[in-house]
This record gives sequence, structure tokens and C-alpha cells, in this order.
Amino acid sequence: MSFANALALDTSDREQLSARGLDQSGVAVALAKPIKAMRLIDSQRSLDEKALSDLISSPRPAPRPLETVKSSECLEALASPSLRMIAGPASAATPRSPLHPYEPNPMIAEAWDSLRKSLVYFRGKPVGTIAALDPNEEALNYNQVFVRDFVPSALAFLMNGEAEVVKNFLLKALRLQAWEKRVDCFTLGEGVMPASFKVMQDPVRGTETMLADFGEAAIGRVAPVDSGFWWIILLRAYTKSTGDFTLAEMPDCQRGMRLILSLCLAEGFDTFPTLLCADGCCMIDRRMGIYGYPIEIQSLFFMALRCAKTLLKPELGGKEFIERIEKRLVALSYHIRTYFWLDFQNLNNIYRYKTEEYSHTAVNKFNVIPDSIPDWVFDFMPMKGGYFIGNVSPARMDFRWFLIGNCVAILSSIATPEQASAIMDLVEARWADLVGEMPLKISYPAMDAEEWVIVTGCDPKNTRWSYHNGGTWPVLLWMLTAASIKTGRPQIARRAIELAEPRLCKEGWPEYYDGKLGRYVGKQARKFQTWSIAGYLVAKMLLEDPSHLGMISLEEDRKGKPVITRSASWTC
Ligand code: GLC
Repeated sequence: MSFANALALDTSDREQLSARGLDQSGVAVALAKPIKAMRLIDSQRSLDEKALSDLISSPRPAPRPLETVKSSECLEALASPSLRMIAGPASAATPRSPLHPYEPNPMIAEAWDSLRKSLVYFRGKPVGTIAALDPNEEALNYNQVFVRDFVPSALAFLMNGEAEVVKNFLLKALRLQAWEKRVDCFTLGEGVMPASFKVMQDPVRGTETMLADFGEAAIGRVAPVDSGFWWIILLRAYTKSTGDFTLAEMPDCQRGMRLILSLCLAEGFDTFPTLLCADGCCMIDRRMGIYGYPIEIQSLFFMALRCAKTLLKPELGGKEFIERIEKRLVALSYHIRTYFWLDFQNLNNIYRYKTEEYSHTAVNKFNVIPDSIPDWVFDFMPMKGGYFIGNVSPARMDFRWFLIGNCVAILSSIATPEQASAIMDLVEARWADLVGEMPLKISYPAMDAEEWVIVTGCDPKNTRWSYHNGGTWPVLLWMLTAASIKTGRPQIARRAIELAEPRLCKEGWPEYYDGKLGRYVGKQARKFQTWSIAGYLVAKMLLEDPSHLGMISLEEDRKGKPVITRSASWTC
């Protein structure tokens, strides 16, 4: 499949797909309604059987179903557009079926093996993957299924045509959302999704129960704002990948989405369309000075709103939410594109800002004092390139670079195409700082000395160039890869993967690396960290078959494009 075709696949939305019952290559795909799907499967069976027998006799690998998948589900999977066996060659990054005796790249085989070992079962069904399976470290909370950590695992399974675990996970998380959530005497919002859950076994009674954490057990008791967004994004990825709309259309799923949206679209005292958050409410789940309007949350918020817009059924109570989403998307994209964007020109403008402007025509809208611009940013900013800064709030711009916020901005298209390319220009121009010897820095630069004392509260895990404070996280490879494919620059991802490959597996899939160049295995990094493994697999599969990108990327919504005028920030 050509690169152009791969991207074109992105633009097919749910209506187009279901109305036509076709994928980009004109191949019929599974439809939402089970009856239609059955008919489709019948009419397609000969094609599928032929494709299957071709595969058996060809040296190409076939995706391997999970052990727990029933044969009827395999048949369903065969009709799914996620399986490239009909539309194109199966990926060499996928594990070999037992039918195919030869082994692929040993690192990939080992990664799949470790990923499968991390599967967590509840009453016999796979429901997620454990955060880490390090045999030498105390488990602490790493023996749980984290919602955000499961995302790359889910994408790997979906890309390999194994949707069952993803469906089970989505349904389990939904059940847990329905719990009454209390911290001391306070009841949390209905829509809050857990940060993580674990399966507890009672060998005496022979029972299994689930235990969820909504932030009450996390350091600092912060609720995971990102969980609900990732859940919606994953629901769309599942739907897009399998062509199975029945899951998203279930009243429970529709309700779950509405509950999440009620939380983040609630009216308050806000003067900005961005979402106000506590420190540590996302992947960075400890105090790191990201309170306020962190870019990671804003990009995920935008992406989740766009995904929900395509999944909500107006007739099932979604109409009002769709309308609210549309308004918020316009305001949010205007705000982020305008005020979070930093390039050489903007930096120079901010440097020359005047303060004490009290009027609607103020240029320095947030009353940022130019002296608060840190020195490093003047050297860091290339002449060609730019990025969304970490946070914008009254008199405070956090100029730090955060990779997730910027990559998700590209994937969700909150970044304009020009901004998306500029972000990739910056990554290339500042390769030594942002990638160094191992991909990829979660944030840049690190805080040290007095700043570290004040901002992190002396956090011994977040010392300079470690963990969240300028540490290097291999899981982020999948996001960089997706962003680089979307911007038509896959060579950037290849370069990053080449750096990781000689070390990742050999060093036991560390959770993170330390140091300015990311050279050292992290001080307290877990080994066999599942998302390091899954992130690598997803990056490889995306590069091999860029059409997978459609699962996790949204094209620019031209209809929702704000009309930018000088006074738009006040009047639109
Ligand atoms: C760390 C990370 C968090 C992740 C968890 C489990 O706390 O900061 O993002 O979900 O580990 O891997």
C-alpha cells in the first residue's frame, strides 16, 4: 500500500465506512449490525478462505489469534478490515502463526512473547496487560493494568488482528467507571475512569475480584484525567480497526462516553477552553509543575472530543453532547494553535512583550513577564521549527517541551499541517537534546537545584534527567513513529528505532533511561516494562504498514476550522 493511500484511509470516517461497507481498497469490511455482519461474512467467506489458504501456502506470516479466541470469533476477525491479509501483505512485525514454522526477527518474537506473558486474565478472559513483569523488583503498583499503559498493548493487538482483549478491557474499564468512587468522605465524579485495576485471587474460595484505583492510592491522590480520554480514543481505535460498531453503540458505552464528557465539558469559572488540571494527572503522575493547563491533557482532550463526536449516537442521548463538542473543538483549537504555539518569531514577540495592558486589544493577553522566559529556550529554539509549550495560564508560560502533548497534537490534528511539520523540524534540529542516544525524552529540559526543590518538592525519583524530569522513555517511540508517518517523515522514526534496537531487548525492556543523552538504564526503572515492549512493536508495525495509522490518527477537520481574525479570541 502506498504512503498516500495509507493516509487516505485516515479520512474515511465511520459514516463513510458503514455506508459503503468498503475499505479503501474496495474490499468489503465487517459492519456494525451483527446480522449484516453475518451476511457479509457469508458472502466473504470464500474470499477469506482463499486468502487464508494463500497465506498458508505463502511464506507471509499470518496474525496469531489469542489462545482464548473462539473459532466463531476468528471468523469474525477474518472479515475485519484490521487484517491486512485481504487488502495487503501481513506485517513482518507480527508474530508468526504456528502454521508458519520460520521465526521472524528474534527481537520481535521475544517482544511478542513478553507482551503475551503480561496478559492479565479475569475469569478466564484476557482483560489487559500488567504494567511490568520485573522478576527482580518489588511490584509496588506495577502489578496492575494501567489504562494509559494498556494503550500501546491494545494497538499492538489490534494491528495484529487480536481485538478480543481490547474489547474486554474497554468493557471492564466501563464497569469500573460505574463504581461509586470515594476518597475519605468525598465522592468523585461519576465519569472518572480508573488509573489502573488489578485482579485479586482468592485461592481458598476460588474467586476472582477486581480492584480499581481512581487516584486515591496514587502518590498525591491525583485522579487520572487522561484515563477517560484514552478510553474514548481506544474505543474509536477498536471500532476503526475491527469495523465492529456494536461495541461503541452499546447503551453502556454511549453512557460511559457521556459521563466522561459531562466531566470535561462542565461549565465553571473558566475563561479558557482548555481543561484545568491538578499536577500529576496524566503520564507524569507525580508533582512536576504541570498543574494548570498541561499540553498532554489538552491534546488528549481534543483527540477524545473528536473521537467521541464520531462515536456518539444522537438518538441515544448524544445530540446535546455532539453540539457542545463542536463548539468546544473550535474554541480549543483556536486557543492551542494561537497561545501554546512557540516558534522563533513568537518567542521574539514574547521577548518584546509589554506588561500592564488592560484592554481587549492587549497583545500580551496573559500578562506574561518577559523576564520569566528561561534562558535555555533562546538557544533551544531553531530558526526553522516550533512546538506547543507545556502550559499557558495567567502570567505563566511553561516553555518546557513535552513529547506526548506534541505528538498527540499532531495525531489529533489540533496542530495545523504547518505546525505539525514544524514540530518534526524541531525534533530533527534538536535531536541531540530530545533523542540523544536513546529515544525519547518525555520532557526537556530537566529541572535541577533550587528549581527541582521548589517544583518537584524534592522528589528523589524525579532528579534531573531521570524519570519524568527529562528522563527517556522507550514507550514514546510509538507516538513519534505515528507522528512522523503522519507528517510524511518516517525516516525520523527509523532513525530513532535504530538507536533503540541494539539495547532495548538486551537490557530487558527498561521502563526509562537516565542522563542527558538517555544513555543509562534508569535509577529505579522496572525491567520488562510492558509499554516499552508494546511501544516498540507498534512502532515497527506502523512503519511496515502505515495504513495502521488510521486507528490512532485523525485528519484535519476542515469544517471545524476556526475563522481566525484579530479579535477572534474575544468574540468567536
Ligand atoms: C509510572 C508512570 C505512569 C505509568 C505507571 C505504570 O508511574 O509515570 O505514567 O502509568 O508508571 O507504568
